[in-house]
Amino acid sequence: MRELVLVLDFGGGYSHLIARRVRSLGVYCEVLPGIADVSRVREKAPKGIILAGAETCGADVAALQIPIHGAPEPGAFEPDVLRDFLYKTCVCSGDWQMAEYAERTVWELKEKIGDKKVLCALSGGVDSTVAAVMIHRAVGQQLTCIFVDHGLLRKNEAEDVERMCRETFQMNLIRVDAADRFLGRLAGVDDPERKRKIIGEEFIRVFEEEAKKIGAVDFLVQGTIYPDIIESGTEGTAVIKSHHNVGGLPDVVDFEEIIEPLRLLFKDEVRQVGECLGIPSALVWRQPFPGPGLAVRVIGEITEDKLAILREADAIFRAEIAASGLDREIGQYFAVLTNLRSVGVKDEVRTYDYTVGLRAVKTSDFMTADFARLPYEVLERVSGRIVGEVAGVGRVVYDVTNKPPATIEWE
Ligand code: XMP
Repeated sequence: MRELVLVLDFGGGYSHLIARRVRSLGVYCEVLPGIADVSRVREKAPKGIILAGAETCGADVAALQIPIHGAPEPGAFEPDVLRDFLYKTCVCSGDWQMAEYAERTVWELKEKIGDKKVLCALSGGVDSTVAAVMIHRAVGQQLTCIFVDHGLLRKNEAEDVERMCRETFQMNLIRVDAADRFLGRLAGVDDPERKRKIIGEEFIRVFEEEAKKIGAVDFLVQGTIYPDIIESGTEGTAVIKSHHNVGGLPDVVDFEEIIEPLRLLFKDEVRQVGECLGIPSALVWRQPFPGPGLAVRVIGEITEDKLAILREADAIFRAEIAASGLDREIGQYFAVLTNLRSVGVKDEVRTYDYTVGLRAVKTSDFMTADFARLPYEVLERVSGRIVGEVAGVGRVVYDVTNKPPATIEWE
């Protein structure tokens, strides 16, 4: 049986961080609310308990108390303190390793699925990709993936996803080219929430049509990860976030059971599992990309021309960030096509072209974020290339607003 250490969350907001640190030290860790029933804690048979928060209780197994009053004490959950607790006090052996986890989960999925049929909505994001590849490793062609290309993806993105599925893994993939449908419904719409609503509805409609062609399946895959289901705080209420991109799918698919192969994992662990499974690095280390895609990065009305401009500008920004080696330290970075045009001069001719906004943020949870202090040389190179290479863009600005008060996306 896998070793487990529990974090009991008494508030303070650091339980996730502590659990991630424990796991990074090789010990599987779960978070339960501080007021969880004793029988529930016993059932889990933890090798140790970490009491995290402002007010803690006693425990009858090895317990490390990490009091958090406001900001945590310096060094309170330093690796050395945790390592001593895990390996000296609790005598853990350190059996939480991603390669072993991937292998074991593939084996368990094989047992569970048997010869039944599985359906997966593949968005190309890290979670759905890793979930799909894992299930494919377990049951091969019994898995069908549906990938809806809504025409709002970044440059080459749809092709990259398709190549990975077909060439790298020989997966059973249905790619639906639905750009015309989505852009048709979005024509003339400039309100961000309306855009989101239309895209969400249309996505479900397209998926439903494709799923009907396949007929009944036994399992529907969800890329739910541990932070989506973690229970925390002192109220004991489960904080359950519906999966952004596939939230409404269970209602339109004829299936028996949902299967969630990543539900125990934090995001960084999902990426490690992805690497163990041989998924190309560009996909494993992909930054988060919103379900409505470029629709919320073209400010105001969306047209094909605007999307084409944004794709080129965004590709240049991403390429330069990667070339400068900053891509792994910045949480999210992208270009935005504003609705603002301004005067300039190109080849001695007066221009009146669009302004592109660049956004790059550092964040640990996407709830708060600081704008990334990009070196001026990088910004200068990006700006020079965008204005020089992308027709229709005359000016580039860098967003120096933190979240809050701004959000990460502009819409
Ligand atoms: P904001 O803009 O709210 O973004 O600071 C926080 C994170 O959420 C992503 N985001 C979305 N993801 N559908 C999604 O799937 C959406 O409508 C959406 N809006 C924002 C954003 O990219 C960032 O990672």
